Amino acid sequence: MEDNTLNPKELLNEFVEEEEGFRHLNNPADGIKPITKKYLGVPTHGVGSGSKYYFTDGDAKVELIVVNEEIMRVRLAPHGVFLEDFSYAVPKLKPKNIPVQFTEDDKEFRVSTAKVNCHIRKADFFISFSDQNNVVTSSDAKAMHWEENTQFGGYYVFSTKECHPDENFFGLGDKPTELNLRGKRLVNWNTDAYSFAWNQDPLYRSIPFYISVNEGIAHGIFFDNTFKAHFDFGGEDKTKTSFWADGGEMQYYYIHGPHMMDVVKSYHLLTGTHPMPPLWALGYHQCRWSYYPEAKFRAVAKGFREHKIPCDAIYLDIDYMDGYRCFTWNRRYFPDPKKMIADAAEMGFKTVVIVDPGIRVDDNYPVFKEGKEKKYFCRRSDDYYMEGHVWPGRCQFPDFTNPEVREWWGSLFDELIEYGVAGVWNDMNEPAVFGSGTFPADVRHDYDGYRGSHRKAHNVYGMQMVRATYEGMRKILKNKRPFTITRAGYSGLQRYASVWTGDNVASWEHLRLGNIQCQRLSMSGIPFCGTDIGGFSGEPDGELFTRWIQLGSFSPFMRAHSAGDTKEREPWSFGEPFTAINRNFIELRYRLLPYMYSAFWEHHRYGFPILRPVVMQEQDVLKNHFRQDEFTYGDKILVCPVLEPGQKSRKVYLPKGKWYNFWTNEVITGGEEVEVPTPLETIPIFVKAGSVIPEYPVMQYVGEKPIEEVKLNVYYSDYEANSFFFEDHGESFAYEQDIYSEKKFVVNGEESSLTLNQSMEGLYTPRYDGYHFRVIGLPFTPTSITIDGKDITDFSISDEKVLEFKYTKTFHTLQISK
Ligand code: GLC
Repeated sequence: MEDNTLNPKELLNEFVEEEEGFRHLNNPADGIKPITKKYLGVPTHGVGSGSKYYFTDGDAKVELIVVNEEIMRVRLAPHGVFLEDFSYAVPKLKPKNIPVQFTEDDKEFRVSTAKVNCHIRKADFFISFSDQNNVVTSSDAKAMHWEENTQFGGYYVFSTKECHPDENFFGLGDKPTELNLRGKRLVNWNTDAYSFAWNQDPLYRSIPFYISVNEGIAHGIFFDNTFKAHFDFGGEDKTKTSFWADGGEMQYYYIHGPHMMDVVKSYHLLTGTHPMPPLWALGYHQCRWSYYPEAKFRAVAKGFREHKIPCDAIYLDIDYMDGYRCFTWNRRYFPDPKKMIADAAEMGFKTVVIVDPGIRVDDNYPVFKEGKEKKYFCRRSDDYYMEGHVWPGRCQFPDFTNPEVREWWGSLFDELIEYGVAGVWNDMNEPAVFGSGTFPADVRHDYDGYRGSHRKAHNVYGMQMVRATYEGMRKILKNKRPFTITRAGYSGLQRYASVWTGDNVASWEHLRLGNIQCQRLSMSGIPFCGTDIGGFSGEPDGELFTRWIQLGSFSPFMRAHSAGDTKEREPWSFGEPFTAINRNFIELRYRLLPYMYSAFWEHHRYGFPILRPVVMQEQDVLKNHFRQDEFTYGDKILVCPVLEPGQKSRKVYLPKGKWYNFWTNEVITGGEEVEVPTPLETIPIFVKAGSVIPEYPVMQYVGEKPIEEVKLNVYYSDYEANSFFFEDHGESFAYEQDIYSEKKFVVNGEESSLTLNQSMEGLYTPRYDGYHFRVIGLPFTPTSITIDGKDITDFSISDEKVLEFKYTKTFHTLQISK
């Protein structure tokens, strides 16, 4: 249906003209052009069965796929012909075979599962969703619409939904702004953003997935479109939420909650979870642009061991290469890299090296020569090479959207791996080009056979680069887990890599921002994330650095990194008291490694995020939609970083239930804010009552010594509570064959007793025997302690009322009573 009734000015208001995609529509210099926007008309026909349904207004078609009981996918073909179904984010869309009802009455077509109804309104093709109680959770405010793109072909595609007064929005990856996106208008277009600022948009990654919470019910929208995409969460018009893209299809998944956790879980079902990382990758990483020459690298390694500060990885930034040519070494700085890496490994360090996508144009450089001969580099529309300047000078760029190129790129890592490199850092893969920012729109990409211009491939370029890296390493390493990190990416990148937030700044504002970004990344499907601790550019003072180490100890990925023109930035660089505090927190991270690894497993196996903002604990409390400082790591430990200089105490909100102050063991009833002292030595940390937190002995690096004893910190609760404890070899893929141990603890306390049950799953048996128990918060003095019926007589109770004893065999039931 042609829409001639809309006033052009209305359209101008509807989509401000700051986005390139709309300039052609609204550029005042051109005068206002006649509107060619088209809307879906009246649906005249609806057919379908099983998981697929089609509706048409006689010209346009809408496809509805029922993925499972909670997820439905909507797709629009403006002239009735769908594109081939292909997605980098959702590699395998396998609708579940479930009962689906398809009904029709005067008013609507309706497709229903046991949990969700999709309504297609006959009057105007508005699509809405409701839950099993017929509560409408999402509804169109306009029919889906589009605008023909006369320059490139295809369409600009739009969807506009109603936005309710108290509806709030979360997700969307790494936007450097408040956690709650209500009122924001944001763009997804991967961008190199050196020293980015608060509210700067877009940044490095594009995650077109958001979660809405309205009146206590959550749903998600995953707009799987790789073109430049736009989101407006009640910004332009507070009654409307819109998302649109400069090309591709209007294709989105409606993901039903009702809880935010359900939404994130379902999003992971579509896009996959992060594989288990090697255990060492959860340790502390030290990076800098750059550690060179070899003597410097060795001195840093020595520094860690001398200062007795645990560390598992040291990075080599671009200066290890010969003229910044990937897969080469600067032999003047690093005459014998293999020996250097082996010596570092002896001391317990993994070496991680950077690679960039720009390949120097140089016929004497084998990587360039081979890539050129095999036509692996990107070309412009008229077949000219895509050339641009990056660190090595004039470069060409592999087309990572071509599977053959990915295979080749992956094979290039064999020498680095043979030298002992354990991890690869993928940078500049937005892709970044000096001067122009990125590639011109006309650059062609293979896109796994579904060809397209850079407009379509830009946002997935980085993800495909790190995919090539990950898959190549996996092949070379055989059964060992690769470690990879990427700057750019698109939904689904979590299947291949961890992420850091890019070139941040050494400022308190950035510490605050980093805290929000990591929480947001985590709830947007990117679990393994962290910031450049200390800030990439600029100079932190000791206090800021220490506060950042404290927060970083609870980032899934923990790495300090800084630009080349900054001062030394190791955890001991600021002297005392900072060094000692930094050491304590890094040690705390190593003690909590088994807990953190278990949270990773919960992500990998069940699709839960690792960091969970408070709103994910209590989405029905409206005030929590605006809290962005405190978060839980997994679901047992609540952390609230200190984000201001000189702060002596701060307010922390604790969700309902009982919590233990980690430092003092004091019990606090949640549901309100508490004032907590924040001396430089600590940040507020709380443990949920009923938790069992496993703890390893402090080591200087993962695997330094065999683990002989695991502490089990059991926090008394007067209700039943579950905890998981996951372990395995920590470096192979044997867990895929069930070679792991997943223990489930159930704590149940009463006025005068505490029971702890342990059950086990999996085929892995840890080498240590039994546990060192620490039972915290017993409200009575114990007189009887039994394990599987046997009396424990050798126990102690400290001044802090911590009951301790050891039991060196496996157990099923621990019983403590008055
Ligand atoms: C980019 C990266 C940064 C790196 C630098 C040199 O700015 O974001 O982390 O150190 O390039 O490779």
